[in-house]
Amino acid sequence: MANLATKYAGLTLSSPIIASSSGLTDSLNHIIELEKAGVGAVVLKSIFEEEILMEMDQVKHQMTGKPYVFPETMDYLDEEPHEDLIRAYLRLISESKKVVKIPIIASINCISNQKWTYLAQEIEKAGADALELNLFNLPSTTEMPAGEIEEMYLEIVEKVVSLVKIPVTIKLSHYYTALGQMLLKYSKTKVKGIVLFNRYYSPDIDINAQEVSGSFVLSSPSDIALPLRWIALSSGNLKVDFAASTGVHDGESVVKLLLAGASAVQVATVIYKNGLNSVSALNDFVLNWMKDKNYQSISEFQGKLNYKSLNNPASWERSQFMREFRHFVK
Ligand SMILES: Cc1cc2nc3c(=O)[nH]c(=O)nc-3n(C[C@H](O)[C@H](O)[C@H](O)COP(=O)(O)O)c2cc1C
Repeated sequence: MANLATKYAGLTLSSPIIASSSGLTDSLNHIIELEKAGVGAVVLKSIFEEEILMEMDQVKHQMTGKPYVFPETMDYLDEEPHEDLIRAYLRLISESKKVVKIPIIASINCISNQKWTYLAQEIEKAGADALELNLFNLPSTTEMPAGEIEEMYLEIVEKVVSLVKIPVTIKLSHYYTALGQMLLKYSKTKVKGIVLFNRYYSPDIDINAQEVSGSFVLSSPSDIALPLRWIALSSGNLKVDFAASTGVHDGESVVKLLLAGASAVQVATVIYKNGLNSVSALNDFVLNWMKDKNYQSISEFQGKLNYKSLNNPASWERSQFMREFRHFVK
């Protein structure tokens, strides 16, 4: 009988649908509900060093009367690393492990080198099944060359994988100058999985108030184009698993991403919009499609249409519209 089991980053998942790091995965109750809904794993809401620093700044201000100063707080944080946010996060991991069977993947986003490694080790001790590094700070600086930023990320990854035994995955943005080469470099570290791509808070403009406002929080279905292409280009050639993120709103997209070579897909928007039932809708669609095409397992078709498997891989490389453009211009 066909089943949805898949292997991702050294973990065996009962479904390729992973609940993405977000407010959906920030509490024990949510995690229990997500397991019941049929996800194969959850990625906990990221713990952000920036958030910890802000909290520590506040505590320091209350205790010493000293002004709120971010960089100074870094030193303070080193002396007193066991504050509330971290403790609550580690407790969420250990409590989740007691009540659900699905893998719990923790997630961190740090600024300083030592915090990446400190948190990674604590998370491993708390019992997480894997750790996702949310590897992104907006590269808006005009002072740091691309190579330096990318080297910094690689160093962080190499340091973390050398310190923990649980599988480490990285969740990337597409803000790279030479993404193909970076993916190759990452795949040569001991990283077990790469998530393409994260989606970030992006400010908008309110044209009536003429001010910077809100954000485009949720994705659109057409957003899968980017992970689809990059997973198809990379999955057959690099020795690392891929999970897709951004724009997976329906079962058809899940099948496309698996055919492109993804081992799993992460979802947030579709659950925010349509509720927990959307998880079983995704699972059912994939299972029915598999039955229809006579596949018993995901491994039978995973990567079937990736760059390496196709006779005409140029279809994944084409980037200019050319022919389509001619149709539109009369
Ligand atoms: C409200 C919200 C909070 C999020 N928080 C995080 C986070 O803490 N860490 C992270 O790596 N991604 C975070 N994300 C990004 C999601 O994990 C996901 O990559 C993104 O929403 C794209 O997937 P989707 O199209 O299924 O929504 C967040 C997304 C949303 C909407």
